[in-house]
Amino acid sequence: MRKKVIAGNWKMNMLPNEAISFIENIAPMVKDTKNEVILCVPYVDLFYSLLTSQNTNIKIGAQNMHWEESGAYTGEVSGKMLQSIGVEYVVIGHSERRQYFADTDETVNKKVRAALANELKPIICVGETLEIREQGKQNEVITTQTRLALEAVEASKLENVLIAYEPIWAIGTGKTATAEDANSAIKAIRGEVAKIYGEPIASNLTILYGGSVKADNSKELFETSDIDGGLVGGASLKVEEFAKICLSV
Ligand code: PGA
Repeated sequence: MRKKVIAGNWKMNMLPNEAISFIENIAPMVKDTKNEVILCVPYVDLFYSLLTSQNTNIKIGAQNMHWEESGAYTGEVSGKMLQSIGVEYVVIGHSERRQYFADTDETVNKKVRAALANELKPIICVGETLEIREQGKQNEVITTQTRLALEAVEASKLENVLIAYEPIWAIGTGKTATAEDANSAIKAIRGEVAKIYGEPIASNLTILYGGSVKADNSKELFETSDIDGGLVGGASLKVEEFAKICLSV
């Protein structure tokens, strides 16, 4: 039985003092959930968030990383650096990074491998544009993204990998994929992982849905057969709303 995972993606929001009070406020609300609760926060909030979340069931993640351990890469942060302060998760290949910051399937794969080498759990984002969805080619695109992201990743590492299916047309737009469409896309991703790694590994893999998840649609999405939780952007910035999502299943 796969555990449900609810990961907030704060994007470029929340100052350290806001992060601290958010975590202080939400921690008692979600303390009894059996779901995994993660907050993926901006770099400057990481250390404060890690300190504030000690002795709570909230896990902390970053939103990106570089694949090299160190070197002349001005402005970048490595997996080793994240690991050194106790970060557990890292979002990799979010569509905003693919779109605005030149992440490619190749660099996503390098980041995934570097994350795993540094004992971080990557949350790998895949998703299609509206144009691709209208052409009915979404499964082709997301299964290819999945395969390329996992290239040369050993089977033994898959237990630390999470995938987030985030159709680009549903991110921040208020348009959510129907539970049925999201579930069927996620089934296609799981099928692709089964082709590479076999059925047992695929059926253990956590695959999230992301794109306008809110308190009033999360239950329906998360109760489908293949959706194991959500990667939540806008709605993760509001304590009450995010707590409701965490507790919706
Ligand atoms: P959204 O963002 O929930 O605001 O649509 C999701 C994401 O980009 O991870």
